[in-house]
Parts: sequence; structure tokens; C-alpha cells
Amino acid sequence: MTINSEINQRVTQLRQQLQKANYAYYVLDDPIMEDAVYDQLYRELDNLETEYPQLITPDSPTQRVGDQPASQFVSVTHNIPLYSLENAFNLEELKAWENRWQRYHEAEDFNSIEYVCELKIDGSALALTYENGLLIRGVTRGDGTTGEEITQNVRTIRSIPLKLNIDNPPPIVEVRGEAFLPLDEFDRINQQREEKGEALFANPRNAAAGTLRQLDPKIVDQRRLQFFAYTLHLEETEIKSQWQSLNYLENSGFLVNPHRQLCQSLDEVADYFKQWETKRKDLPYMTDGVVVKINDYSLQKALGFTQKFPRWAIALKYPAEEAPTLVKDIIVNVGRTGAVTPMAVMEPVHLAGTTVQKATLHNGDRIAQLDIRVGDTVIIRKAGEIIPEVVRVLPELRPPNTEPYEMPDRCPECHSPLIRPPQEAVLRCMNLSCGAILRGSLVHWASRDALDIRGLGEKIVGLLIDNGLVNSIADLYDLTPEKIANLERMGSKSADKLINAIEESKQQPFSRVLYGLGIRYVGSVTANLLTKNFPSIDQLSQASFASLSSVYGVGEEIAQSIIDWFSIEKNVNLIQQLKKVGLQLETSSPQTTTVESSPTPLSGKTFVITGTLPSLKRNEAKALIEKAGGKVTGSISKKTDYLLLGENAGSKLIKAQELGINQLSEADLLTLLQTD
Ligand code: IVH
Repeated sequence: MTINSEINQRVTQLRQQLQKANYAYYVLDDPIMEDAVYDQLYRELDNLETEYPQLITPDSPTQRVGDQPASQFVSVTHNIPLYSLENAFNLEELKAWENRWQRYHEAEDFNSIEYVCELKIDGSALALTYENGLLIRGVTRGDGTTGEEITQNVRTIRSIPLKLNIDNPPPIVEVRGEAFLPLDEFDRINQQREEKGEALFANPRNAAAGTLRQLDPKIVDQRRLQFFAYTLHLEETEIKSQWQSLNYLENSGFLVNPHRQLCQSLDEVADYFKQWETKRKDLPYMTDGVVVKINDYSLQKALGFTQKFPRWAIALKYPAEEAPTLVKDIIVNVGRTGAVTPMAVMEPVHLAGTTVQKATLHNGDRIAQLDIRVGDTVIIRKAGEIIPEVVRVLPELRPPNTEPYEMPDRCPECHSPLIRPPQEAVLRCMNLSCGAILRGSLVHWASRDALDIRGLGEKIVGLLIDNGLVNSIADLYDLTPEKIANLERMGSKSADKLINAIEESKQQPFSRVLYGLGIRYVGSVTANLLTKNFPSIDQLSQASFASLSSVYGVGEEIAQSIIDWFSIEKNVNLIQQLKKVGLQLETSSPQTTTVESSPTPLSGKTFVITGTLPSLKRNEAKALIEKAGGKVTGSISKKTDYLLLGENAGSKLIKAQELGINQLSEADLLTLLQTD
């Protein structure tokens, strides 16, 4: 079919008008068109494109949201790795960084150094590739070397141009920046999740990362992610500095954070940092610090990178936030292991970007130490994604006639007596039929890292238990759409969906099943280690204390916990039932060598651990290293071979850098242990 030039022209005109309107709305925050007019033009373009599909171009505003969910994401190796940033937690550490890079680069005269200050956006980094001006690929940061290709999802972010707004675009450009959820959008999503009984996102960063990994671009489109561009990789260019790059990005159609500042000295950087410490609380998105970058590209190039970080940039982080609030009540929560955790219920308070109403009080000892009472004004603290905690009580604000809080002696759910096991700080409900334990176990079983049963959140689990449909994990597998269709807020469609999701969980590998059982101390990393050494549940259940505790990462505490778990008849019956319904209780490619006969790959090596590791507790990491023949010491010296580095590392990291000591992440450590 030939298309007359009038139609062709109209399509081009509509596209340009809509692109302009999009840019004005999402990037400039200065709309030029009423919604109704936009909708009308959009519909006209959509209709014309439906009639003449030959006219569709990849940068058309109609092409932002794909129809087909992805079946999975493909791993992509970054051409240039996405480095992380070294952290400084105060101005002294910032100064130490300046001294360090200046020492490293002795030859120069540093009288006229320029730094670019940018706000550190708390989101998820993305790498975008443009070929001849068109967006062809969007990839997550991943581990910095390899990420996941999520182009479909990236296209839904309206502040990311599908086509660069420049004449004669270069053949290839890579743009990096931060995808993030504005705070109001984060609150809206969490509210919706709460209504549906789904687990809440802990913070906007997790929510952004979780959204980017959604397989269905329609869901991503419903959550209004935004993107601030901050890095430009462009070959053969006139651009010679970070400041010029940011302006180039802005002129190409990207949203670049308007609060950037070019500073002529470290004192100016310090002023910027102090100024934003207060002002950032009024921003509609979350920031957790300031990124300081040397402006001049030739100096950046001369300084280069350490194993992990650029030497020419640093993140200056704001401390965890604290706020005062009033304690309205103290309640206790019974978890899936029976542990009884007291919580303070507080007057809602805005803290580190989210509204906080509950804070953990950990255990009875901590309550006694704080002497916290209902009616008290307290200071609560939230650092990153950690659950808020009460730091201290303000006794001067205590009203008269308050009573010290006493921990209950009976389970609030099943009323059986609570026990405090020797050497533990927590009270526990030991009744295996306790409703709270059952509820927690089922929610854990269905959680993402365990059997990943979508739709089986806290609310539905509660309904299944309250209606007598489920008394144990195995009962889930007897459910039918008919049995659950009458539950509150459960239509026949969602009933079918849930039963399908439960059915599909039978295909999940043994390590997830083992993690899902919720054996104390058996997290997903340990479950993985265990299934590698004991390829079936029968081998695991019969394993001796000695053979269990000789596995890397499985210390005596974990070994005893596994033995205790299998000594309970109810648990043995559960395994039999799970076998019958067809869950994976052995690995598909059995591997029979146990670590007892393995060599010790770290023998003679000395480690120091610093910061919070993503999944291992410090004592777990220590046990792992020691099992493999290594030694863990408390401070860095020339004799240290490796620094095992977690989040929020402090002075040990600086010392290690000064001494040029190798740094390892938890993942690096686990790889070392497995491959050797
Ligand atoms: S620059 C080599 N600039 O912070 C350059 N990062 O802790 C590395 N981030 O992975 C990144 N705002 O996800 C840079 N203005 C900004 C940033 C920023 C947020 C994130 C980014 C990075 C992480 C490092």
C-alpha cells in the first residue's frame, strides 16, 4: 500500500509534538500541553500507526511500553565496568581522600583543582547505549561487570529519551545514571502492596531495583520510575570534563540533577555537603550523600581506578537519620522460629525518606536497658534498609505514672509458656502448632528466595489458616481453586493463579526447599552449601554432627540446629509429605564429595572483615575462612592478605587502601572457596 505524503507528514508532526510535550512534562517539569490534548494527539498517532504499521519508528511515543512480558533477562557484560564508589563518612575522611589522590599523583600542582558535586541518588544504576542517536540497550549495574538487559523496562521511563535530541548524533554513546522512585510513588506502591497482602518494599532503592527486574513492562510502566543521568562515555569528543558531560547530557534530552555544583576547593565541597544535609529532606526523592568527582578528565585518567573504585571520585555519605517520636504502645511479635520480639508502636514519623510507625526493641534485656515505657518520647534511628530501632529514651519528657514494661510470660498467640533458652537473649514460644509460628513459616516458605510463590503473602496466609484450610506447609499442596475461591477478596481468576503458583513451586531446586523449611541459622547461602555437600534430604537428615560441621560455612551452631530440627517427629513427617507431593528434595546432579576430603584453599592467609556483608553474618564469614585454613584478625597490618569488604566500611578500608591490601567482596570469597 502506498502512503500519501500527507499521512506521512502528519505522523511525523504528531510524533514531534508528542515528544516535545513529553520532554516538557517529564524532564523540564514544565508542561506545555493539557492532558486531554496530549491524549487526543496520542490517539490519533496510535490509530494512524495501527492503520499504517510501516510508519512506526522505534522512537515513537507509542512504542514505550511493550506488549510481551520477557520470559527472563539476558546477562550482558559491560564494555566498561560500572565501578562502585569509595565512601567517606565525614569531612576528615574527605580530606584524607584528597591527600591520598594528591600523593598518588605527585607531579602535579594542585592549586586550581575543580570538583563537581552531585547529589547521591538512592536508586539503581543503569547503563544505556545509544546507536546513531537511538536507544538500543538498557542494562542494570549487576555486579559491575555483568548486568541484565532490561531494555523493554528502560523504555517505559519517560525521562529517558528514546532518541537523543542532538543533530548528527555520534555512532555510539553510553549514558549512565540512576533510576529511582520518587517518594510519593514509593508510598503509593507500598500502600497498594499492603492492600493486596504483599510484602512491602523496605525503601525506595529496593523498590526501584525490584521494579526494574519485573518481567512485564506493563507493571514497570505503572510505577513511575525516573532517571537522572550522570556519566557520559563518548569516544573522540571535545568534552573534557564531568561538568561539560553533564551539560551535554542535559542538552541531549536527559534529566540531569539541577542541584549539581562546580566547586573550586574542598572547602566549597564541604559547604555544599553541609547545605544539602538539611535541604535534602525537602527533596521529592531519596539521597544518601554527595558524590564528589574531580572535574578534569585528563586528571581523572591519570589517577585511574583501584580494584573497585575510581581514585578520582568519592561518596560523602550522610549519617543515619534520627528523629524523636512518642511511644503509643509496646507489642510483641512471634516470628516463624518462635522468637518473641518486642516492638514499639509509635506516632508516625518521617525518617530517611519513609514513614515509620514501628521500631524493634530486640528483646527484654534491651527494654530493661532502655527502660522504655508506653508514653515515653524516644529517639529512633534508621540506617539504610535496617529496621528502625530505638536509640534512647528522653526521660525528661516522661509523663507521670508510667510503668516499667514487663515482657509477657505467655505467647500472645497460643498462650503457651515462653521459654528463654540458655545463653539466648530472646524468649521463645516452643509450641510447634502455634498459629504465629505457622503463619511465619508459610510466609517464609512462599518468599522470594525460598519457593517464590507469587500471591501468597501475609494476608492470604492468614486467611488460609483462619479458615482451617492449612495447618502445615504440606497442606498448601492439597489446596484446589474451589477450596479457596470463597476466601475474602479471592475471585476465581486469582484462585487459579495462586494454585498454579503453588503447583509451579514443586519445580524449585532442593536448595530453595531447604531454605524454605526455615531451619534456624540456615539462610539461603548455607542452604546452598549444604545441598552441595548433602545432595538429598535423606543424606542431610542422617548426617552426623561431625560431617555437618566440617562443611565450609557450617559451624557447630548450625550443625546442631540441623540435628535438632530433624529430631522432631513433626518435621520428619513434613518431609515425608513434601516428598509425596513432589517437591525437589534432592539436587538434580548429585555431587558426593564432601568437604572433609577437600584441601584448604585459604591456608596461611590472613583476613580482616569490615562493614556489613550482604548475606553472611560476620561470625559466619569468619567460620568460613577458618574452615578453609585462613585466619581472621581484628586490625589491618602489612601482614593482612585480604580485606573482606561489606557496606558502610570505615577506617579499616582506608588503612587497607593505604597499604595496598587486596579487597574481596562476599561473592569473591564464596567463589574462592568453591573454585579452589
Ligand atoms: S558516579 C565511577 N554519581 O552510587 C562512577 N553514582 O555508591 C560511579 N549514585 O553505583 C558512579 N548518585 O548507583 C555516581 N551522582 C552520582 C550518583 C551515583 C547515585 C550511585 C550509583 C553508584 C553508587 C555508588
